[in-house]
Amino acid sequence: MAYSEKCRVGMIGAGNVAHRHARVLSGFADVEIVGVTDVVPTAAEALASTHGAPAFPDVATLLSLEPDAVYVCVPPFAHGHAEEAVLASGAAMFVEKPLGVDLTVPTRLAAEVARRGTLTAVGHHWRYLDVVRTAAQLLADHPVRLVNGVWWDKVPPVAWWIRSDRSGGPVVEQAAHVVDLARALVGPVTAVYAAGTGTPPPVPDADVDAATAATLIFSGGAVGTLSSACVLGWKQRAGLEIIADGLALFVGEDELVVRDGAGQERRIPGDPDAARVAVDRAFVDAIRGIGDDIRVPYAEALETHRVTCAIAESARTGQPVTLAAPAGPSVPAPRSGRAEFDGHDPRAVPVEGGSADG
Ligand SMILES: NC(=O)c1ccc[n+]([C@@H]2O[C@H](COP(=O)([O-])OP(=O)(O)OC[C@H]3O[C@@H](n4cnc5c(N)ncnc54)[C@H](O)[C@@H]3O)[C@@H](O)[C@H]2O)c1
Repeated sequence: MAYSEKCRVGMIGAGNVAHRHARVLSGFADVEIVGVTDVVPTAAEALASTHGAPAFPDVATLLSLEPDAVYVCVPPFAHGHAEEAVLASGAAMFVEKPLGVDLTVPTRLAAEVARRGTLTAVGHHWRYLDVVRTAAQLLADHPVRLVNGVWWDKVPPVAWWIRSDRSGGPVVEQAAHVVDLARALVGPVTAVYAAGTGTPPPVPDADVDAATAATLIFSGGAVGTLSSACVLGWKQRAGLEIIADGLALFVGEDELVVRDGAGQERRIPGDPDAARVAVDRAFVDAIRGIGDDIRVPYAEALETHRVTCAIAESARTGQPVTLAAPAGPSVPAPRSGRAEFDGHDPRAVPVEGGSADG
């Protein structure tokens, strides 16, 4: 697109996260929201009117405007047709995580994204946290041995969340942020073994597990656990503890806690709002051809989704699940200038007893 033109964005799905993206995008001088559609017309109208845009009855009418980019902000069960239409239109595509409730639709869509060479990004905004960059730098000289990911929270107030066939379950839907962080900081996951409670949280009609516990094996030789629970009335803790040689970290959205041999524990505040802006800014900059900092394109999000789906499958079947190594680098190669983690890929750190893989 010409440098002088505004990036014209359409929105599919007009719920909570779409409101957030639209608010961020409206704050960019070089972006115009050209239309909104939702299966609930009043939802589309509410979001559209907030940003002075029209609401449309369906995806096809929205796409007839030929937007430069489309945000797909639908619940996990609703992915598929919207993305297919966006890909066929030639627009760039931002998709909210998770990519689906299982692997069927995302695997098909990833092939189509690759075939068309579409510019994509997925809403794993944790990758844009400054504290994640700092954690990666700290880990550069410290082989990781152990990871402990947690997401202990309430049931979110969206009706579809408590049904596994609509959300994919708490690990797929929510703990995906932490699994993605583990993959970014520690490397590919090669096997998982999980158990669920088999009983739901105390919410009418729920069928998702109240809690899940999983063991994870990383290709570089580290081992880890992931636990998820949705029975509280508040968010207790979400993030990743990492034990490396001579270094202990906790990486959360709000802070990085560091302890090494040097002395006292250090707490470095995080800025999740800045990361939520950065993920949208990077997408728009890439569309405009003025940036190259999309950290989680569709194919990369699929690798995280493979791990969360494997955990869900293992919890369901009681069997361990082995994951095939991704075909290429699991994270886009660091770029000069605005390189992810300052150009250093922590997964390249040699780990005793195994080789880092990427
Ligand atoms: N990255 C993040 O931090 C973050 C934060 C919140 C939500 N999310 C993700 O965003 C997704 C949506 O979450 P939400 O909280 O906005 O949900 P929501 O229920 O508030 O909104 C979803 C909207 O999509 C609409 N919809 C459903 N099917 C549709 C279809 N086929 N076509 C068009 N519209 C359709 C619904 O009517 C609803 O208005 C979830 O996957 C969630 O995990 C991500």
